[in-house]
Amino acid sequence: MIEARNIGVSYGNIQVLWDLSFEISEDDGIVAIVGPNGAGKTTLLKVLSGLHPIDSGSVSIWGDDIGILSPTAIVERGFVHVTETRNLFGDMTVAENLRMGAYTHRRDIDSATEDVYDLFPVLEERRSQRAASMSGGQQQMLAIGRGLMARPKILALDEPSQGLAPKITQRLFERIVDISADTTVLLVEQHVHQSLRLAERAYLLENGSFVAEDAGPVLLESDHIEAAYL
Ligand SMILES: Nc1ncnc2c1ncn2[C@@H]1O[C@H](COP(=O)(O)OP(=O)(O)O)[C@@H](O)[C@H]1O
Ligand SMILES: [Mg+2]
Repeated sequence: MIEARNIGVSYGNIQVLWDLSFEISEDDGIVAIVGPNGAGKTTLLKVLSGLHPIDSGSVSIWGDDIGILSPTAIVERGFVHVTETRNLFGDMTVAENLRMGAYTHRRDIDSATEDVYDLFPVLEERRSQRAASMSGGQQQMLAIGRGLMARPKILALDEPSQGLAPKITQRLFERIVDISADTTVLLVEQHVHQSLRLAERAYLLENGSFVAEDAGPVLLESDHIEAAYL
C-alpha cells in the first residue's frame, strides 16, 4: 500500500505538485491518473520511485517513510515504474532485457520470464532479437515485461500508448487489463477515454493539483472531463 498525504513537490524554487493525497493498494485493479501535458504526472511517478524528493507532506510505501528508502528498496517493496522513455538496453536481446528487470528477484527469473512470455508471446518469438530492432509496440511490451520481472505489487506505466498506432494501443490496453487481474496498475495517460473506461479509480491532475477523483467511468461522464477533453 502506498499512501501519500498532502505532498508538495518542486524543481528548484518552482512548485509543480500541490497538496496531493491518495492511496493505492495491491488489490485496486487499475488506478488511472490522467491530465494534460505538463500537469505533473511523470513527476508524481518519479516521487513514488524515490527519484525525486518531496518538499512537504509524506509518502509511505508499505508502512515505511519514503525518505528512508532507496529506489531499489522501493522496487523490493513492490512498486515498479515503467518510464515514459522505456529505457531499454537497445543492444541487448529481449531475453537479456527481461533478465535485467529481475535484479531484485534473482532466484525467480525463469518462472517470471515464462509469465511474461505467456502475456506477450511475441517477446518469446523474438527473445534473441536486439531490443532496438523491434517496433514501438513491441518495445513497449518489453518495457512492461521487464517491469513485471521484478514481481511488483503495483506497476506504474507512464504513457504506455505514446507513439503507438490505435490498433496496437487497443491490444496493449487489453494486456494491461490482464495484468491488473494480479497486479495493481497505476496507469498514467493522456489517452483519457480508454484509461478512464478501465479504471476502478481515477484522478484528474491539472497544474499539479487533483481537480477530480472518482470511479473511472463516472469521471469520464463528468462535466470536467467533457469540458477539457471533448
Ligand atoms: N527536470 C525538470 N526540471 C524542471 N522542471 C521540470 C522538470 N521536469 C518537469 N518539469 C516541469 O514540471 C511540470 C510537470 O512536468 P511533468 O511531471 O513532466 O508533467 P506530465 O508528465 O504531466 O507531462 C512541468 O511544468 C514541467 O515543465
Ligand atoms: Mg509525463
